[in-house]
Amino acid sequence: MSSDSTANEISELLGSLREHTKFLSELGAEHVEVAEDPVGESSAAVSVVTGSPNYEAAADVNPKAISPPDEFPTMTTRAATIKSAPQDTLFGDLKPPEPSLLQSSETLEDVWRDIGDCTRCGLCEGRTQVVNTHGNPKARLMFVGEAPGADEDAQGKPFVGRAGQLLTKIIEAIGMKREEVLIGNVNRCRPPGNRQPTLEEAAICRPFLFREIAAVQPDVIVVLGNTALRNLLETREGITRVRGQFQNFRGIKVMPTFHPAYLLRDPSKKKETWEDLKKVRDYLDGLRQSQSITRPDNI
Ligand code: URA
Ligand code: URA
Repeated sequence: MSSDSTANEISELLGSLREHTKFLSELGAEHVEVAEDPVGESSAAVSVVTGSPNYEAAADVNPKAISPPDEFPTMTTRAATIKSAPQDTLFGDLKPPEPSLLQSSETLEDVWRDIGDCTRCGLCEGRTQVVNTHGNPKARLMFVGEAPGADEDAQGKPFVGRAGQLLTKIIEAIGMKREEVLIGNVNRCRPPGNRQPTLEEAAICRPFLFREIAAVQPDVIVVLGNTALRNLLETREGITRVRGQFQNFRGIKVMPTFHPAYLLRDPSKKKETWEDLKKVRDYLDGLRQSQSITRPDNI
């Protein structure tokens, strides 16, 4: 190895160490443990069970609300060149994404118009307003949480409370601005007492999220916590087991990580979240480089 490449490697290492430390201190972590294996248990093989074993019950409740047109408006094969992938070797474990099978002629506004002053499930009774997905309609990166809390219910925007402020820091830690990304939830109405949405409530609301995803076609979706994980990937696996490993949602890369509200309760988990988000950042950087010729308007 030449002394130039050794110097480059050292300088890269120092750069990422600086980033890591900055991230942890921005997020308020008390201890910075540099020596730990950054992959650790997340390198364990995990299989995500696909199919929809946990949603049959929901279909009995309101079959109309989860009928196929809501679930997905159109599905056609996109040209593989549109989502050209970075080189496998750049990212080690990452395989190039399959060509997307999503396509939609809808806009976010079309979906929101359809949602309207929704009364499709019981959550409408306790809410102040519907909290739709918010952000950049051309976002390459999307975050999906669970459901609005009190602050979101009051302001009509997702992730504006304490968890939202931490999410903003997480976004900024990977060099992006909150306005660049898209942020949404599985459910759009605040559940009473901030309880988890039921399977039925989630199944009624998530088709709108799927339509938004089809409209925007982000390159990566970060699912925050168990509710988002289980509704996008229809798995029973927990976030602790699958976090940090890219999954696939109909041709779109999905990175599961901890929910920021969970990080507020257990700040020691911020370290894992940083590892997960670095993978997202590196993947997006690779895509940007490989797409800079074919997609000059990409952000
Ligand atoms: N928690 C969520 O899951 N979503 C929000 O919008 C706010 C807090
Ligand atoms: N359970 C969740 O739903 N989310 C987390 O981030 C951790 C545990």
